[in-house]
Amino acid sequence: MRVYVLNGPNLGRLGTRQVDVYGVTSYADLVTICVDTGRELGLDVQVRQTDAEHELLGWLHEAADEGAAVVLNPAAWSHYSIAVRDACAMLRGPLVEVHISNIHAREEFRHHSVVSAVATGVICGLGVDGYRLALHHLAARFGAGTA
Ligand code: DQA
Repeated sequence: MRVYVLNGPNLGRLGTRQVDVYGVTSYADLVTICVDTGRELGLDVQVRQTDAEHELLGWLHEAADEGAAVVLNPAAWSHYSIAVRDACAMLRGPLVEVHISNIHAREEFRHHSVVSAVATGVICGLGVDGYRLALHHLAARFGAGTA
């Protein structure tokens, strides 16, 4: 099963960005974690990050056309991008929204995600483990040999 792990703005700076909030795992480490977890689980994991909204929209369209599963950290776009939400609504495969931090325990403008209502499920506040957990869920629920 193909899984796109898509990351929005500023997530390429993980490891140096607000380490008190996002931890010390770098983006390169996150990619390794996702690819290694995918390999263990028999998933074809493609990890991408962009600071350009149109690029994320293109990747979501690609996933929609393929019927692929998506793990998405929309980052700041979570809170206001109707375009990202609309692209997520086109997906035919499962969508797990991931946030490294607990957005509900932070500033009020982060409490609402416009993406959550069209996601299969949401993981937040568990650090980069959230990505690992999302991949485990997808493999268990939607991987080969599951009902
Ligand atoms: C984030 C939370 C967002 O509010 C923030 O804009 C991000 C990262 C997270 O992973 O905790 O960039 O999505």
